[in-house]
Amino acid sequence: MAKAKRTKDTLEITPLEATARMAVLAKEIERHDILYHQKDAPEISDAAYDALRKEYQSLHEYYPNLAPKGYNPEKKVGAQPAVGFTKITHAVPMLSLGNAFTDEDVEDFILRMRRFLNLDHDAPISLMAEPKIDGLSASLRYEKGKLVQGATRGDGTVGENITTNVMTIASIPHTLTSSTKYPVPDVVEVRGEIYMNRDDFMILNAQREAANESPFANPRNAAAGSVRQLDSSITAKRPLSFFAYALGEVSDMPFTSQQSLRKHMNHWGFALNEPSRLCHNALDLLTYYHEIESLRHTLPFDIDGVVYKVDDFALQQRLGFVSRAPRWAIAHKFEAERAQTVLKNILIQVGRTGALTPVAELEPVNVGGVMVSRATLHNEDEIKRKDIRVGDTVTIQRAGDVIPQIVEVDTSKRPKNSKPFIFPTVCPECGSHALREDGMAVTRCTGGLVCPAQAALRIIHFASRDAFNIEGLGEQRVLELWGDGLIKTPADIFALHNHQRDLAQREGWGAKSAQKLINAIEARRSIPFDKLIYALGIRQVGEATAKLLARHYKDLPTWRTAMIAAQNKEGSETWQALTDIDQIGPLVARDIVAFFDEDHNLKVLAALEKALTIQPPPVQKKTSVLSGKTIVFTGTLTTMGRSEAKAKAESLGAHVSGSVSKKTDYLVTGEDAGSKAAKAAEHGVSVLTEQEWLKLIS
Ligand code: IVH
Repeated sequence: MAKAKRTKDTLEITPLEATARMAVLAKEIERHDILYHQKDAPEISDAAYDALRKEYQSLHEYYPNLAPKGYNPEKKVGAQPAVGFTKITHAVPMLSLGNAFTDEDVEDFILRMRRFLNLDHDAPISLMAEPKIDGLSASLRYEKGKLVQGATRGDGTVGENITTNVMTIASIPHTLTSSTKYPVPDVVEVRGEIYMNRDDFMILNAQREAANESPFANPRNAAAGSVRQLDSSITAKRPLSFFAYALGEVSDMPFTSQQSLRKHMNHWGFALNEPSRLCHNALDLLTYYHEIESLRHTLPFDIDGVVYKVDDFALQQRLGFVSRAPRWAIAHKFEAERAQTVLKNILIQVGRTGALTPVAELEPVNVGGVMVSRATLHNEDEIKRKDIRVGDTVTIQRAGDVIPQIVEVDTSKRPKNSKPFIFPTVCPECGSHALREDGMAVTRCTGGLVCPAQAALRIIHFASRDAFNIEGLGEQRVLELWGDGLIKTPADIFALHNHQRDLAQREGWGAKSAQKLINAIEARRSIPFDKLIYALGIRQVGEATAKLLARHYKDLPTWRTAMIAAQNKEGSETWQALTDIDQIGPLVARDIVAFFDEDHNLKVLAALEKALTIQPPPVQKKTSVLSGKTIVFTGTLTTMGRSEAKAKAESLGAHVSGSVSKKTDYLVTGEDAGSKAAKAAEHGVSVLTEQEWLKLIS
């Protein structure tokens, strides 16, 4: 992949390459923003993310006109708020900080400000230096000293309302302490970082692993994941802490500097991020930086750098902001801790969702005080991109993460006979095909029901409330029975009556609970077709899709025959019929068909078919002129959105399709209708204007 060199003189990239590279980078940055800010599940280290942004920036500087349309990563602070929380528009935007990586960057930062302010060479400029803790920034609003609102940063303009969650954090005061010397303004928004101490994080992860929950990658994710819980009783159980370091909206300002603000916030009841220091020039800042770097391991929390802020608020005001960051502050990042070692082997782990994750087995090495013998390789692309091979000498780094990453390969030390790693196409756990979907980085095992790595989870899903709803067969029971080999596949549930006596004799069971479970299972032996489909746990097939499939295919043999016929035949009539079902696109269709491509799945399905009575979906009553008709919409409707029109048609018993064929009854044409009208004429399909459509449904 072409990479932009940093200076214009040496830019070795053509405009065409730059266009393509910028588009790729923009997409990647956007994806990582969402992973980091909304999903709390970053795939790359902060350093790797910063490198993407830097590369984009340098290309953008050189080719500003070739930037992808509608995208400006400079403006973007975070990602849109996730659904679930109400939104809060920040009275004062919550901005981010620019980064410095080298001593020179820090000197430049000071020079830039001096130039901007037109300061004399010897005029002093004081800066507060503080540790930069990697957590989740939050804004706490106090009115008359009472905590009334807590918000996340969100995209910097609009954040999420996390008031009930912040109320559960012990170091966040509900009432501020006011005094003559340190009065509390009527309205004040205190900003700072919610974070988790390293020890607390380790304990939490150990508890999660014991409870079969996936551990958090680092304290930052743990903090973010805990704060962004819709149920605040979960947040309350998490060991979170808070540091105050800045202000949002404030009704009056009894302070004129960062130093004085810190003192006030401390007296009001907040913890501060220490050790901090008032510095007076670049040399002071760099001395502070190196001191903090050397004692970072002794701090109870992870820090990823330090922050320098102009102390005087009047100067801050004059300096102002450039796009996403203040001119008066900068984050000076630490280098991630690195070490070289040899990659002994690449193992493939299969997760509970079937994702195949490559893991590097390393010659153990000490990285920043921690012995490391494994590193994550993320996925196939990552291995290819870095050309990582078994036997290679690699540089690994830990960036606050528990699981370290491979940064680069020293190809000069590569053994002569080394070969590129070939990613498996079968699951190492169960031998089923492992598939990679178009546009996806993850390779997944398709053996869902039989793969030991996934089986227990699938069975839990199978018996769960929205699927078979078998009372008494919850997560713990499934894990117990699965662990002892009594339920290996969902079909085994319906043979449990053969083991009733064994069940009764199990520790903690007894005859009564065994009987109860058998009764609950028997009660579900007759099951609606859509519930069965949903229970199979096919990827991307939720309850709604299961209903659509059940309604379309009506019974298991018909569905199975069609799905087998559609194998390797995208474009065939059976494939077309499947993707013609409204809301089933090619990606979902591929997952459904892939399920039937596995012998093990077919075996389980056959066993279930024998054990169950499958109820056909209820026949829809013919009550409207649209019952049973197939409708296609094209162009833009002015009175309703496309989804609303579809929903309306379906509620009247019609089937909505995406393409015109001889089976289409009506084509509804909105504005700017394309080529579908011609196709409709060809097939003799009735064409309706939007007005005629409205009349038809009224
Ligand atoms: S000041 C307008 N001070 O780092 C600038 N931020 O990378 C307001 N952070 O969004 C931020 N420690 O979440 C500031 N001592 C500190 C900080 C700090 C950590 C976070 C904060 C910010 C991010 C920028």
